[in-house]
Amino acid sequence: MPSEKIDQIIQEIKHATAQTKEELEAYRLRFISKKSVVGELFAAMKDIPVEEKKAYGQQVNEVKLLASEKFKELIEQVNQTEKKSKALDIDLTLPPTQVPLGGIHPLTTTRHRIIEIFERIGFNLSEGPEIEDDWHNFTALNFPENHPAREMQDTFFIEKNPDIALRTHTSSVQVRVMEKEKPPIRTLSPGRVFRNEAISARAHCIFHQVEGLYVDENVSFADLKQTLYHFAKEMFGPKTKVRFRPSFFPFTEPSAEIDISCLICGGKGCNICKGTGWVEIGGSGMVDPNVLENCGIDSERYTGFAFGMGIERIAMLKYQINDLRLFTENDIRFLKQFRSLV
Ligand code: PHE
Repeated sequence: MPSEKIDQIIQEIKHATAQTKEELEAYRLRFISKKSVVGELFAAMKDIPVEEKKAYGQQVNEVKLLASEKFKELIEQVNQTEKKSKALDIDLTLPPTQVPLGGIHPLTTTRHRIIEIFERIGFNLSEGPEIEDDWHNFTALNFPENHPAREMQDTFFIEKNPDIALRTHTSSVQVRVMEKEKPPIRTLSPGRVFRNEAISARAHCIFHQVEGLYVDENVSFADLKQTLYHFAKEMFGPKTKVRFRPSFFPFTEPSAEIDISCLICGGKGCNICKGTGWVEIGGSGMVDPNVLENCGIDSERYTGFAFGMGIERIAMLKYQINDLRLFTENDIRFLKQFRSLV
């Protein structure tokens, strides 16, 4: 057997490839089986002169080893290719797998709804910083120098003298709007606010507010009432009643707390409204002339009303949620219940 023949076989083995089982079988027949070219090399042993037998035998054994090593390699290669093509083997007639959809958080839904109601009656949106200075959060809003709301128990101060704090209400945004714009102003400021309060079912140190402001000539308390009547009916249904209770805020005069008739019992009295038939949704009032002047608005010519509501409170009433903490715990069982709301 000429050694060129052996070299040729070695080259062939080295360059052999197989993608399919058939190609693998062809390789096996050509290089591994009894009748393969390697088998023939063994068969040719008998014609080799005795003195060359040993060297020839060694050479042929090496070829056999090479052939079987390569065979192993090709088996592995074919298996891998098969696995890959199986993964691509998609049955288009199968029903699709359900992709679980997330939902919109109930506070977001509530905020959107509130904004939508007020946008339709001409309010635009305004935003401001969550970290505020004393002027915008307190002083411009007519808070006296030592008003208790400025004290540490309510406000998260970041710096003292001059005071920088996390805003305690979005009234600060309204100050910024009034400083920048000329009346008529009709704006809604939704946003996150912060108060140093212990977390419970009814209170949280971080919550959300929507505050509204309307400043123009001849804005009256009647306008405030009508606006909030309209809001309550749109938000909670046409049978909802609204009640104004005298109250106090440094930045409004007169001031009133806004109550709506209890949605659960319809005003008869239940444990949600603590038997009164009414639940509170926010504060309101006529903008104090001092506040208008602080913001560069002529209080002789212009008047305004303002109101502020907690978004959590509105959502709790609307969806009958009895624990404020549920909004921030991210418990999927709670959130899932609001999946169908938009
Ligand atoms: N800023 C007040 C609060 O956070 C709410 C309010 C706004 C009251 C506007 C009256 C007018 O409690």
